[in-house]
Amino acid sequence: MQLKEFKKNKLTEHDIELYRTELNELYKKKTLDNDQLFIAKTQLLNNEISKETFKTMKAENTRIAKEFTTSLKTTKFKDNLKNAMNVVKSTRAENQDYIEANEELNYAKQLYEEFRLIVKEKGRSAKILKLSDYAIEIDHLNFRYNAEFPLALKDVSFKINHGEYIAVIGHNGSGKSTLSKILIGVLTPEKGIVKLFGNVMNSQNIDQIRQFLGIVFQNPDNQFIGSTVRADIAFGLENKRVEPKEMPRIIEESAKKVRMENFLDNEPLNLSGGQKQRVAIASTLALNPDILIFDEATSMLDPKGKREIKEIMVELRNQGNKTILSITHDMDEILNADKVLVMNNGELIRYGTPKEVIDEEGFLESIHLGIPFIAQVEKELKKAGFKINKTNDMDNLVKQLWKN
Ligand SMILES: Nc1ncnc2c1ncn2[C@@H]1O[C@H](COP(=O)(O)OP(=O)(O)O)[C@@H](O)[C@H]1O
Ligand SMILES: [Mg+2]
Repeated sequence: MQLKEFKKNKLTEHDIELYRTELNELYKKKTLDNDQLFIAKTQLLNNEISKETFKTMKAENTRIAKEFTTSLKTTKFKDNLKNAMNVVKSTRAENQDYIEANEELNYAKQLYEEFRLIVKEKGRSAKILKLSDYAIEIDHLNFRYNAEFPLALKDVSFKINHGEYIAVIGHNGSGKSTLSKILIGVLTPEKGIVKLFGNVMNSQNIDQIRQFLGIVFQNPDNQFIGSTVRADIAFGLENKRVEPKEMPRIIEESAKKVRMENFLDNEPLNLSGGQKQRVAIASTLALNPDILIFDEATSMLDPKGKREIKEIMVELRNQGNKTILSITHDMDEILNADKVLVMNNGELIRYGTPKEVIDEEGFLESIHLGIPFIAQVEKELKKAGFKINKTNDMDNLVKQLWKN
């Protein structure tokens, strides 16, 4: 084969990406179908479906498995490599074609290595695709901790657009943490569907689907593994098998986002609570999840620490490419959110803008939650006879008072 002809037909990185996606999709299809067949087996035993139905399903399952194996066995990347070798052989040393042909050969080798890696992982490690603009969709979710216990989540449904900042509020025991644990796949719902970017979460794809998520917990002291801030951020990256070459850059960047870049060589133990939480956030950001969950991440911090973390959450939202779900008792924080999700007794009872939730007369009090400080001030001022337009901004409120 001639160099010119090879160049016209050669495979590229794009083909690798397509192949990765194809295999990933087939893998998903295969595992989903395996799940269904598994359920069908029990149904067959209980006489809930006919033998015929089961047979048809089994045949379909075999067909899908074959399709997957065929895709694994593709020879196109090897053929591409062979062609490149032939081109090198057909060109004479020391002319321009020969140099170019060797470059093509190297490239073809890289593609082939990449292909072999993908096959080795059978498509599992490929980043799962985003099939929807909804970061999170929950549909008729029920959960209980034990068969004798009441439902900890009752028929919960909602959708969150990617890029939104959602505050989740509710009295103790209302089901907030249960919800976050279902989202990260620690708990499995009794009924209902959880979708992340359109992907239905199931036991087969949970490891992949988790790549969408990062979570920061309440207690900053329980989140450290490394002996320095740098080592701590690096830990998650090593687990994810990030290229060692890439790590310093990722660590620096994530530390900068939480303004901890000057503490990379400090021991986590000697940091303040707020700083520790910032490191926990950096460790999460380093893995670049699309969805960040904060489960009362500010509740154990002093006022300064709380303020720092809240600022970072707003900055992350303003950068526009993260969905933030913040479970909080801090009623002032909900003013920063795009929407507020209100839980009570395992039920979702409101899902609206902060203004809608705060302005509903007596609502927050009725479920034993306070109202944000600024709303309280407004209320008292109105009682005292001041004419105040509703605002959730302290500066604006002060301006109005000056005019009064
Ligand atoms: N591990 C558990 N075992 C049994 N019940 C639990 C467990 N964790 C939470 N619960 C119960 O589930 C309900 C919801 O709890 P949770 O989701 O932790 O609420 P929140 O985070 O809103 O305070 C509560 O009634 C709680 O007692
Ligand atoms: Mg909780």
